[in-house]
Amino acid sequence: MWFCRALRRVAPNGSRTYATQIGDKKVAVLGAAGGIGQPLSLLLKSHPGASSFLSHLSLYDVVNTPGVAADLSHINTSVKCTHHTGSDALPAALDGADVVVIPAGVPRKPGMSRQDLFNTNASIVQQLTAGIASTCPQAQVLVISNPVNSTVPIAAETLKKAGVYDRRRLFGVTTLDLVRASCFVAEAAGKRPENVHVDVLGGHSGKTILPVLSRVPGVQLTKEQVEKLTNRIQFGGDEVVKAKDGLGSATLSMAYAGARFTLNLLRALKGESGITEAAFVESDIFKKDGVDYFSTQITLGRQGVESVGEVGPLDEYEQGLLKDALEDLKINIKAGVDFAK
Ligand code: NAI
Repeated sequence: MWFCRALRRVAPNGSRTYATQIGDKKVAVLGAAGGIGQPLSLLLKSHPGASSFLSHLSLYDVVNTPGVAADLSHINTSVKCTHHTGSDALPAALDGADVVVIPAGVPRKPGMSRQDLFNTNASIVQQLTAGIASTCPQAQVLVISNPVNSTVPIAAETLKKAGVYDRRRLFGVTTLDLVRASCFVAEAAGKRPENVHVDVLGGHSGKTILPVLSRVPGVQLTKEQVEKLTNRIQFGGDEVVKAKDGLGSATLSMAYAGARFTLNLLRALKGESGITEAAFVESDIFKKDGVDYFSTQITLGRQGVESVGEVGPLDEYEQGLLKDALEDLKINIKAGVDFAK
């Protein structure tokens, strides 16, 4: 739908309004040569409206960025692509970045939980965020690397240590959970996935993912359907990990979700109002329970997070899910904070 929205903006003379605007934002993708990084960069470079708000795509990885940048630069849009390889090149990759997207790190293999990735990805996210703190401290930071429930607190603590943390500028990307939930619920309810919106709250792993199936507009589900769908949404990533059979986790659907979030954020930074997305951000809602980060719908604005939405009404089953989610989130968040300290 984010894609169609851009296409729909057609001026009276038939030209598209975005064609006459010139983008000035720089987006750095850290982990750009990876399974997510490459298709995510492709979607950003090739999106029909992107050049109205994006001027520069900076591709950073520890390997293979020259090939990715050369390939993307042959796509005829005005978004400039540059490549930067290895930690010495990180400052140049980040210089002047308005938005930094982080899909760097290792993905899951069959049988692994997202938390099993902690040891490797925690240090990668810490190192990259330290680079952001010193080179582009005002940038919006979008963390995709798992376990998001812990990597976001790691990024926050690293930015805090450097004295540049601003809660409006740090996001854990949970968009894929909503994208998946739309698909699965639409399939069960016989609807078009494009027309189904499901609120998904909480965090981004297993029981911390809380789909709110009691209030999907126009959809009534049986108790059995709700239980099955809840489990499928919570563990949807496992279906992909299993099907890829050792060759990684969700990359294409994640790239779609990451591009949707990034493009919506860019539109908000440019001044478009009323843009909402869900994301795992610092939130006051459950601070009293020791949970400092939580995903609800947020409104995006020129500074990043403009306002954090409420949890809204939950039925009894969802209240039980929320209790479980908070228990796990507390542990995952603490692991991130302790690591960064
Ligand atoms: P991948 O292994 O295909 O790509 C990761 C890339 O990161 C590689 O190109 C690698 O060279 C690079 N990299 C490693 N260390 C780096 C460093 N220090 N600096 C810069 N780049 C570095 O993995 P994939 O499939 O792209 O997944 C990336 C991450 O995204 C994983 O942690 C995965 O679990 C996570 N993920 C998150 C989702 C979400 O919904 N938030 C969904 C799916 C995956």
